[in-house]
Amino acid sequence: MARRIIIDTDPGIDDAMAIFFAIASPELDVVALTTVFGNAHTTVCTQNALRLLEIAGRTDVPVAEGAHAPLAMRFRGPADFVHGTNGQGDAPLAPPSTSAVADGAVELIIREVMAAPGEITLVPLGPLTNVARALRAEPRLAANLAGIVLMGGNAFCGGNATPAAEANIVNDPEAADVVFGAACPVVMAGLDVTERIVMTGAQLDRIAAVDNPRAQHLAAILPYYRRFALDRQGLDGIFVHDSTTISYLLAPEHFTSVSHPVRVDTGSGVGRGKTWASTRRAEHGDDPWAGRPPVTILTGVDADAVVRLELGRLGVPG
Ligand code: BDR
Ligand code: CA
Repeated sequence: MARRIIIDTDPGIDDAMAIFFAIASPELDVVALTTVFGNAHTTVCTQNALRLLEIAGRTDVPVAEGAHAPLAMRFRGPADFVHGTNGQGDAPLAPPSTSAVADGAVELIIREVMAAPGEITLVPLGPLTNVARALRAEPRLAANLAGIVLMGGNAFCGGNATPAAEANIVNDPEAADVVFGAACPVVMAGLDVTERIVMTGAQLDRIAAVDNPRAQHLAAILPYYRRFALDRQGLDGIFVHDSTTISYLLAPEHFTSVSHPVRVDTGSGVGRGKTWASTRRAEHGDDPWAGRPPVTILTGVDADAVVRLELGRLGVPG
């Protein structure tokens, strides 16, 4: 039976890749998309989610709009310099002909999870506001989830949005600290692993040669993301951030991990948003990680294998 997932997303160029990758994978059943601010404002992300499903021919998948702002601060603002002002690389996009469902993201997540105990995995690809709100609103949610496989954080490397922190986490550190404390299996696909997975310029060019609407949409939006990667990171290609969650769900054997409790820096200093893994016991004094469940932190990957897997699912011949 296909594994049932809800993707919580801020589409986003790499979000679009991950959504198409998931939809093209028969091992996964995408129950819904829920949206959040991040790469763009939430209303833009909702429009993009609807449009992506239309392009994929999957308007049967409901979209529920989520939070417009983090739990305890103002939204830092869209990452238009990475994803374009429309979140889709400034490619011209027709408005969707479908609409979001009446339920909000939190309501949809709680309803679907509680109706199918132990079946649903949440796959957050943006700030963790919706997931934290759902965990708080329904204390039995964690126990009824199959797990959470999220893109975000940086346990053993520097950040990308700030020297300390990764973009999804720094956009709502308080929410992330709630989610890393959830009493269910949590897998963190953070920069420790996603920055080891590069899809090269030559590989991205091969997507453009695929004659289907999904690949053609990716070909239209990827140039913006590639320009950012070249200018800011000196990379001929892109880091495959969000799709790493889908690769892990499909082929966990390609990954290595460590397991430690994780806390998020929710202070107001330069470290705000940093994900700290507790790798040793506190020698004295209070232990801020005490009582926190272990998180599976992905640290190693067979990058060639997962890039091949994703390209194959996107229709690029092997
Ligand atoms: C994350 O930040 C967003 O810009 C991407 O979509 C991804 O989810 C990478 O740090
Ligand atoms: Ca994202």
